Amino acid sequence: MPALVLLGAQWGDEGKGKATDLLGGSVDYVVRYQGGNNAGHTVVVGDQKYALHLLPSGILSPSCTPVIGNGVVVDPSVLLSELSGLNERGVDTSKLLISGNAHIITPYHVSMDKVAERFLGKRKIGTTGRGIGPTYADKINRVGIRVQDLYDESILTQKVEAALDVKNQMLTKLYNRRAIAADQVVEELLGYAEQLKPYVADTVLVLNQALEDDKVVLFEGGQGTLLDIDHGTYPFVTSSNPTAGGACTGAGVGPTKISRVIGILKAYTTRVGAGPFPTELFDEDGEALRRIGGERGVTTGRDRRCGWFDAVIARYATRVNGLTDFFLTKLDVLTGWEEIPVCVAYEIDGKRVEELPYSQSDFHHAKPIYETLPGWSEDITKAKSFSDLPKNAQNYVKALEEMSGAPISAIGVGPGRDETIEINSFL
Ligand code: IMP
Repeated sequence: MPALVLLGAQWGDEGKGKATDLLGGSVDYVVRYQGGNNAGHTVVVGDQKYALHLLPSGILSPSCTPVIGNGVVVDPSVLLSELSGLNERGVDTSKLLISGNAHIITPYHVSMDKVAERFLGKRKIGTTGRGIGPTYADKINRVGIRVQDLYDESILTQKVEAALDVKNQMLTKLYNRRAIAADQVVEELLGYAEQLKPYVADTVLVLNQALEDDKVVLFEGGQGTLLDIDHGTYPFVTSSNPTAGGACTGAGVGPTKISRVIGILKAYTTRVGAGPFPTELFDEDGEALRRIGGERGVTTGRDRRCGWFDAVIARYATRVNGLTDFFLTKLDVLTGWEEIPVCVAYEIDGKRVEELPYSQSDFHHAKPIYETLPGWSEDITKAKSFSDLPKNAQNYVKALEEMSGAPISAIGVGPGRDETIEINSFL
């Protein structure tokens, strides 16, 4: 019953796609359990580069069944275009399963996301503008539209009308926008129904049966721990639970079934959108990390904010997720620095603080306390084992492991599928 959760240990964009895909060959099911097309995975297979937003990265492994769980929010137009893009490149997508309970991102959710951000002005979250927050808000408010609603026109119409009754008041009276016609939304959504039908399934049943049959199931988190609605840097977070518990609610699998929780950890730190980020760099080092690391969002094309590794955050991720392992990514990006600072604690109001403060105002003015580790200049992209790494790179990895509270079981040393050092097997 190997059930693995793989999630971002920082603010997302840690290189999860590569890690998931690396396991893809031995995994029977890859499940997304939260988020939507706000995520972005880049997966490099041979000389082909794939940018996935909504589909689980396991879609690229022929032996794997990709699953979109009940906790995901699905924009049908994005899903269908992602599928046809892959089909055009010869990828078979016929095994995909989509939960009938997943919520649908409609055009009005996208509009609400954009106008709400504009309305917030300087206080904006910096969302991806994909309608994620408003769709989850409707889910919690019990006025959401689910995938299964596409197959009952009268229910769909009632639900869209009920949702738009309120939203049109907001759009026209508060945000000064045009109202959205319910019948047009219904027509658009019904237009997707037949194309999606072959994929819609009772994914909770399928996954629990798979686990009973000893299949390997991988739960793939979108975004990252610090973007979690409960455990992240609220309000600068996404509207779902990327942390490990989210895999249980977002896929309908009990916590007793999860055997391993792997945190993907970048060898430095990045963040997209607004919100606190203690180790953020505004100098040429930050610029160099961005350039060398290719730190530009797969989904939004925005430059990522870059900074040194933050061990306080890594420790926090270990705790809130119950991490059993780390997969350290992008170590090669740090090649060439003579010395590499690592944040080991914060200074808050003149005091040294070892753990992430729960208070938002404390975290906003936390200053990083750095320890400096010696760097390396040798090319590490061909390293196949830990001992192939230069001594200083080995020491950097060991130091991170000690500070972060869980073993580093794999290390990414380049973007390619085979540019990974496996230390402990995940299976
Ligand atoms: P939303 O998920 O579009 O509502 O955006 C909320 C916050 O999460 C913003 O700061 C986004 O930049 C951030 N965010 C959402 N998805 C990702 C992701 O996949 N990687 C990194 N940041 C993300």
